[in-house]
Amino acid sequence: MEKRAALILAAGKGTRMHSPKPKVLQKILGSPMLACVYQALKPLFGSDIITLVGHRADLVQASFPEEHFVVQNEQLGTGHALTCALPELCQKGYSHVLVVNGDVPLVTEDLLRRFLDEACGSDLAFATIQLDDAAAYGRVVRRNGQIAIVEAKDYDESRDGPVTGEINAGLYWLTIDLAKSLLPMLTPSPKSGEYYITDLVALACQAKARVQAVMLGRDNRLLGVNSPKELSEMEELLRQEIVQGLLAKGVICHAPELLRVGPLAQVEAGSELTGPCEIYGHSRICAGAEIASHCYLEESCVAEGARIHSFSHLSGAEVGVGALVGPYARLRPGAVLEEDSHVGNFVELKKARLGRGAKANHLSYLGDASIGQGTNIGAGTITCNYDGKNKHRTEIGEKAFIGSNTALVAPVRVGAGALVGAGSTITHDVPEDNLSVARAKQKNFAQRFRQHDEA
Ligand code: UD1
Ligand code: CA
Repeated sequence: MEKRAALILAAGKGTRMHSPKPKVLQKILGSPMLACVYQALKPLFGSDIITLVGHRADLVQASFPEEHFVVQNEQLGTGHALTCALPELCQKGYSHVLVVNGDVPLVTEDLLRRFLDEACGSDLAFATIQLDDAAAYGRVVRRNGQIAIVEAKDYDESRDGPVTGEINAGLYWLTIDLAKSLLPMLTPSPKSGEYYITDLVALACQAKARVQAVMLGRDNRLLGVNSPKELSEMEELLRQEIVQGLLAKGVICHAPELLRVGPLAQVEAGSELTGPCEIYGHSRICAGAEIASHCYLEESCVAEGARIHSFSHLSGAEVGVGALVGPYARLRPGAVLEEDSHVGNFVELKKARLGRGAKANHLSYLGDASIGQGTNIGAGTITCNYDGKNKHRTEIGEKAFIGSNTALVAPVRVGAGALVGAGSTITHDVPEDNLSVARAKQKNFAQRFRQHDEA
């Protein structure tokens, strides 16, 4: 019985990116490239996905803690990479493996399905695409009914013939049995010293295995990202595709050329976006929500009818139905705005819940706090949540009124219906419905002369 796995090759250094970050963690519209590859593979392979990591494996593993990894300690090439994963593939009893380069962020489930449909029945199949310029890609060479992939560095026109533009996309399907018998026969490239997975093609032909090159036409979604330039080109391609998809499904997009919506984000029909703005991660914008220009959202949810005004920054925030945010608001992880609540300019929330209809409209910091329904937080109110060692909570009940410029020194509670006088520094709990004033009493002194007369 066929038991199939997917293997993602993600151990390479990505030298051409000139970045300390492993290449597969480079972001494309806010998500690591590798997240895009998982997104395409998951519907087809579920949990039968192995990721081969090596260079800065720790960083890649930490970014995807739920995934299954095998380590390639030395990066000796893509053929060596498959060799490193082979014991795991055998041990798990897989019969076939789809090998995918980890640097193809635009790969889709559809594309993989098309490839797999064509590939099935072969002992080894690989995807090819047609380019005008074969550039640095592995080139497909067909000779006397045999197929081979010759890497650009190793290409020799007198031996391999004129370059045709048909290149290897970096997607392979093969039986584990074939991998077992051919991988030990790989020899390092005389030019680069690397073991190439691509050399398996010629070896398989020589072994009379059923080898197939699956032509995917001119679809350059499968092109790998190797340099900053290629990353930006792919990012722009993906951006346009995503925005076109949003328009087609009924999202109102103003200045669509300036919208950057990530591949994992969900934007519902009937929502309204104005560019420039960025919506990344697993963000969700519901129908009837509006995101104004110059906003940045990641891992945030904006419910029906909520409005995010310009220059707001949201990360890990939840904005409830009909809530208003900004302009110039900052919602940090754990900020939860219940229905019809308001957060205005220069207000920062972190791990703070604003109850239904509650308002914090100006210049506040609310951290580790819960604010009851209908409560008003005056301008300049600060929750002093950190004592230099630990974080403490502030709890404010329903329909309370916190006067402007209040410091709430946590841990502290303000009861429902309480009123805190402006300028107070609250260090003790305020009981329900009490008025609390905690500031020095104003004293007026007669002056001998007016200050401004001095000058
Ligand atoms: C590779 C193919 C080339 C193809 C191109 C398509 C080889 C030898 N060449 O070239 O034919 O046209 O992809 O994009 O395979 N990796 C490891 N371990 C290693 C080396 C690489 O895991 O030791 C991973 C990299 O992280 C990367 C993938 O394998 O995700 C491909 O490696 P890369 O160096 O980008 O190969 P290319 O030169 O692009
Ligand atoms: Ca590549």
